[in-house]
Amino acid sequence: MLDLICPQCREPLTATERNWRCANGHSYDQARQGYLNLLLVQHKNSRQPGDTPTMLACRQAFLDAGHYQPVSDEINRLIAELAPRTLLDMGCGEGYYTHRLTAALPGTAIGGLDISKDAVLKACRRSRDIQWLVASSARLPVADASLDAALCVFSPWSWDECLRSLRPGGHVLLVGPDADHLLSLRAKLYDSVHPTPELIKQLPEGLRIVNDQVLRYALDLKPADLASLIGMTPHGFRSRPERQQALLETGLPELEVAMRMVLLQRC
Ligand SMILES: C[S@@+](CC[C@H](N)C(=O)[O-])C[C@H]1O[C@@H](n2cnc3c(N)ncnc32)[C@H](O)[C@@H]1O
Repeated sequence: MLDLICPQCREPLTATERNWRCANGHSYDQARQGYLNLLLVQHKNSRQPGDTPTMLACRQAFLDAGHYQPVSDEINRLIAELAPRTLLDMGCGEGYYTHRLTAALPGTAIGGLDISKDAVLKACRRSRDIQWLVASSARLPVADASLDAALCVFSPWSWDECLRSLRPGGHVLLVGPDADHLLSLRAKLYDSVHPTPELIKQLPEGLRIVNDQVLRYALDLKPADLASLIGMTPHGFRSRPERQQALLETGLPELEVAMRMVLLQRC
């Protein structure tokens, strides 16, 4: 179990069956699906924050087809080497990577957190052995220095919250697109391709990079998988539908994944 804290007063939360409570009497009921909602209404940035249901469905279809399994396998390898006792997946989405981690980390207390309740509901269907949380990465509901490891795949994170919640010597693995990730797809969808922002713009004091690598491999996608890939990303609503349609008709033989993976350690 992770050391959860109350989102209102930051006191430790303890559970009696499905009810979580702090010393100040703030109380949270675990949903019957298994997740705990620790996102206070004043910390939501919209009524339904996070990815849309269409994006979630597309991501689940694409991930479950195994197209990013090499990414998941590499995440598992990097994190298993750390042998963490506690791990939190920040912005876990519908839980693909979090769930695959359970096989690599028997005995680790694993939590998956996302601001989207719809995403967490999907995640709950993957496993009951993971502590699923609706919460924001900007306010992690875990105690100071309580995490051995944190993971963040294609999601936003807060440096301050990583520094606060990781124990000294603990690690955070950040995973995101490298400059030429899915470049041929982007070149077909837009007149000009915008550069991919650097995964890490400025490293804060208190964290050091211990491993920095780019995982590359080719994807050979059927039209339905290509449609899921477009739909799970902002390309689905940013690019013109006729461009998307043309792409689905022609296919995309030379599509390359370029996933940057940066492992950092709290000093
Ligand atoms: C691109 S998806 C990645 C999901 C998952 N990590 C994966 O790669 O399959 C980004 C996720 O971040 C979540 N998200 C966005 N802002 C967040 C925040 N402040 N705190 C927690 N999750 C957030 C979204 O709801 C979405 O599920």
